[in-house]
Amino acid sequence: MLGRRDFLRWNAAAAGALLLPATACRAVAAFSGDTRSPEDIARDESLWVQVQQSFSVDRSALNLNNGGVSPAPRLVQDAVKRHLDFSHQLPVHNMNRVLWPQAEAVRERMAAAWGVDSGEIALMRNASEALQTVQLGLDLQPGDEVLTSTHDYPRMITAFQQRERRDGIVLKQIEMPVPMTDQAALVELYRAAITPATKLLLVCHITPFTGQVLPVKEIVAMAREHGVPTLIDGAHSFAHLDFNLAELDCDYFATSLHKWLHAPHGTGLLYVRREKIRELWPLMAAREEQENDIRKFEEIGTASPAPYLGIAEALSFHEGIGGANKEARLRHLRDLWAEPLLDDPRVSLYTSRDEQLSCGIATLRVEGMDMLGLYNTLWRRHRIVTSPINRDDVLGLRISPSISNTPQELERFVRVVREHLPA
Ligand SMILES: Cc1ncc(COP(=O)(O)O)c(C=O)c1O
Repeated sequence: MLGRRDFLRWNAAAAGALLLPATACRAVAAFSGDTRSPEDIARDESLWVQVQQSFSVDRSALNLNNGGVSPAPRLVQDAVKRHLDFSHQLPVHNMNRVLWPQAEAVRERMAAAWGVDSGEIALMRNASEALQTVQLGLDLQPGDEVLTSTHDYPRMITAFQQRERRDGIVLKQIEMPVPMTDQAALVELYRAAITPATKLLLVCHITPFTGQVLPVKEIVAMAREHGVPTLIDGAHSFAHLDFNLAELDCDYFATSLHKWLHAPHGTGLLYVRREKIRELWPLMAAREEQENDIRKFEEIGTASPAPYLGIAEALSFHEGIGGANKEARLRHLRDLWAEPLLDDPRVSLYTSRDEQLSCGIATLRVEGMDMLGLYNTLWRRHRIVTSPINRDDVLGLRISPSISNTPQELERFVRVVREHLPA
């Protein structure tokens, strides 16, 4: 019989030759029963090489913007294709009678994996749809206030601004410190901005411009003291940080699944605390008897069940690796590029690297350097994809590697950036 090490060596060799969906199965099998700490597992390249080879990414380019949208492993892509083929054989029957009912099992598995009730989980197309379901679906009166920060996602700010114009509500934003280094002070910033008119607090779990992890549990608890409901934007935290939705205790949580869960493109999720479902209007109309049913948020007309069912494969892949192992790996990948670059005194980050305050995303800054110029050079000359952040308070490159990336790719990124540092 093969020992674990032999098995891994055999897998690593086989993975190079046979890029089959089975690679993904072998990848997750390699993690099972491994009792080492997530930090040790994060550094064992013999495990991660198999994860990397579960993807079909184009290695002639280097993707360091997985925070935008991520690749799905082959086994997820294959599931979607399978469900699409089946849909096209007899659309009305196969989609409506066979495939859509199977989405109930996806809802149930996602709810169980994140510690909430399946009656509180709606499957959506992305975080934008999930967030705006709450932002636009609450009854608000002229003068009611909604509170968020200067570092929330621009589309979500736009949604509130449209409600200002349409309904006369008032948007307030706290100024997000850059870098964010003091969790308690941040909670107090939000507290100080709450007034008797505040009807909703929108908070990012991981911020989009600098990848800072915010103390959402503490912010939710503070808001609860003031009777203010909370909507957590978990677009970057879900399946990136290892947490349980129930423990956050928020009223609403919204995320994309095509970022850190590596689920099919065009998938997202909305959690609504059971007692809040009734008072929240869906974006598209639903029947009155659906008032208390989480499925009222999924009334979007004819749509393909294929991406939603593919979430199941992404979930199995994620569970096979283990949430804590993945979080540790993402932090390790961040350090693989950040630590060597930070040896140069001109390089700094807009992101605090404190373990409580960050994970796999950080935003790079080089003193005296045109960062947009660097962004263009990285892509045009080296086919390296990063995310330029161009704001008054952050002018840098957001770097977001994921489990599909190899350490060699990050070494190359470091080498290339060094080559272009000002003399
Ligand atoms: C913090 C945050 N919220 C929401 C979104 C919207 O996600 P999507 O475009 O998948 O709807 C993003 C996208 O990057 C984001 O960074």
